[in-house]
Amino acid sequence: MNIVVIGAQWGDEGKGKIVDYLANDSQIIVRYAGGANAGHTIVCDQVQYALHLVPSGVLHPDKTVILGSGMVIDPAALFEELSMLESRGIATKGRVFISDRAHLVLPRYIRIDRERDAMRQNPIGTTGRGIGVSYALKSEREGIRIADLGWQEKMDELEQEDREFLAPYRDRLQALAIDISSYLYQHRNEQVLFEGAQGTLLDLDLGTYPFVSSGMSCAAGAAIGAGIGPRALDHILGVFKAYSTRVGNGPFPSEFDSDSEDALCCFIRTAGREYGVTTGRARRCGYLDLVALRYACISNALDSLVMTHLDVYDTLDEIKACVAYQIGDRLVENFPASVAMLANARPVLRSFRGWHEDLSALQSYKDFPSAASAYIEFIERFCETPISMVSVGYDRNQTIIRKNPWKETVLS
Ligand code: IMP
Ligand code: MG
Repeated sequence: MNIVVIGAQWGDEGKGKIVDYLANDSQIIVRYAGGANAGHTIVCDQVQYALHLVPSGVLHPDKTVILGSGMVIDPAALFEELSMLESRGIATKGRVFISDRAHLVLPRYIRIDRERDAMRQNPIGTTGRGIGVSYALKSEREGIRIADLGWQEKMDELEQEDREFLAPYRDRLQALAIDISSYLYQHRNEQVLFEGAQGTLLDLDLGTYPFVSSGMSCAAGAAIGAGIGPRALDHILGVFKAYSTRVGNGPFPSEFDSDSEDALCCFIRTAGREYGVTTGRARRCGYLDLVALRYACISNALDSLVMTHLDVYDTLDEIKACVAYQIGDRLVENFPASVAMLANARPVLRSFRGWHEDLSALQSYKDFPSAASAYIEFIERFCETPISMVSVGYDRNQTIIRKNPWKETVLS
């Protein structure tokens, strides 16, 4: 059986923690998209790890982790991350592999990425990791893949700067390379976890284009980015925060108003530690956007949702969520494609009672205060999707399981 874990918002939903948690019952974890633009924070035995490229399951010492074909990999960032893990006592040898179809990110791409965004009339606010350039070259059929490292003719064609950069990494990368489709086929009877990066609203096709990343953050990306067919995916899990955040530019209809809601914004940012793991930027914060969340459920065919950061709301009297958009004189209930419409959308908010109770120590859903369950169950009804897990803190054991996704699907 396998589970796909994706972000149902604009990234930073807490996927890293959920993957780390579910990894316990899996043998293989595959990251299938993005690159070092991602930042996954995981707390394990009170130690915090920030990962960018290596799948979050790596913190479990006996698991195999694979960087999939849909990823774009900066070798310098990858080996730095592997050294960081080794230096903190996490052995990685013999259990970290890379798809030989994954693309590489070179230092030149990073320069171009930053220059291009600075020149845009409406900058996207990229993380400046060369991600967009690498995916663009892939589409132009000018990219360099892991498999190409063993192809001398291709290496000879490279610009001198690229060749010199790659020289110290060639053997090390090739030593990690595998044919991911065959590997996963051989291990098809094991428990496999597919780990997405970013989120649905940053997906190149489903997201708020052009204010998106360039990889596939959607569930369908797991099939492509891991080299297996879509029918092989068993359970799709969408992770979302009890509120919303966004890093970088682009429309965000439920964003807190910078004048009237500044105090609430500062509170959420501090309580939720809403600062980018990759860039350190303060994240934009807002109400939970249920119009967008329902869109993520539909467009990814989510089997269930995982709610995170609910404890951030513990001390508030009132909680609000966006249930529709007012755009001009129209009430809009479906997530529009048009960035212009989204930019003009005003959130229609519904109010919920706060619970004034510390959720972070709770161990079971039946102990939840009724106001917290009312918020959760409203979301389930609105999105027509069950919430299978609720996270109430950073630690592995601050995870409430309502239905274990590993046990939900019938084994084939
Ligand atoms: P890029 O992927 O670096 O090109 O960035 C494109 C957009 O996606 C920018 O708005 C980034 O802030 C955003 N972005 C990329 N990766 C992440 C992530 O892991 N979390 C949140 N936002 C991200
Ligand atoms: Mg992140």
